[in-house]
Amino acid sequence: MSQVIAGAHVVLRPLATADRARMRDILEQPAVADRWLGSQTLDEAVAELFKRDDHTPFANEARGAIVGYIQFAEESDPDYRSASIDVFIDPGWHGRGLGTGAVRTLARHLLRERGHHRVTIDPAADNERAIRAYRRAGFRPVGVMRAYERGRDGRWHDSLLLDLLASDLD
Ligand SMILES: CC(C)(COP(=O)(O)OP(=O)(O)OC[C@H]1O[C@@H](n2cnc3c(N)ncnc32)[C@H](O)[C@@H]1OP(=O)(O)O)[C@@H](O)C(=O)NCCC(=O)NCCS
Repeated sequence: MSQVIAGAHVVLRPLATADRARMRDILEQPAVADRWLGSQTLDEAVAELFKRDDHTPFANEARGAIVGYIQFAEESDPDYRSASIDVFIDPGWHGRGLGTGAVRTLARHLLRERGHHRVTIDPAADNERAIRAYRRAGFRPVGVMRAYERGRDGRWHDSLLLDLLASDLD
């Protein structure tokens, strides 16, 4: 079911085995690792990017380079059907609108092509860059999920749930 999804500034293409070294290079940088790894080792986190049992992974390409990773997961219960997104961008490419572009592109695909009526994303409550990017992509804050995820420091941290409904799109 995976396909290339083209946005205005990014191209999301299905993640391939050949992307492993590049993904590892990005993920091991502290600005990404501190937000992504939790209690996992780097090797465990890299391996999980490539699993397709509960999510669909993409390499995020822009200006001819692989600049990051994005995935979606879907809730299959028809009465709760919705999708969620996770994303990271190479720190060397941060602050250029690529995170916003990737999330906007995938969210619109999920709402318009895959028939979802609701997409969610749940950054750490103190991840201001992520929250700004997701708000700019059209997501709205729902509320703080207290002690939602365990960080690399072994402690539980709050996350902010944001959502985007099909009816929010212009
Ligand atoms: C979160 C992430 C995907 C955003 O990608 P990005 O390409 O850097 O984001 P964008 O350039 O599209 O937007 C960043 C926004 O945050 C702002 N910003 C930049 N640095 C910031 C900082 N230190 N604090 C707060 N906001 C910041 C930018 O100005 C921009 O907002 P604006 O366009 O309204 O001015 C990326 O930073 C990342 O991979 N972070 C590490 C992993 C991570 O946190 N993943 C998210 C897990 S939910």
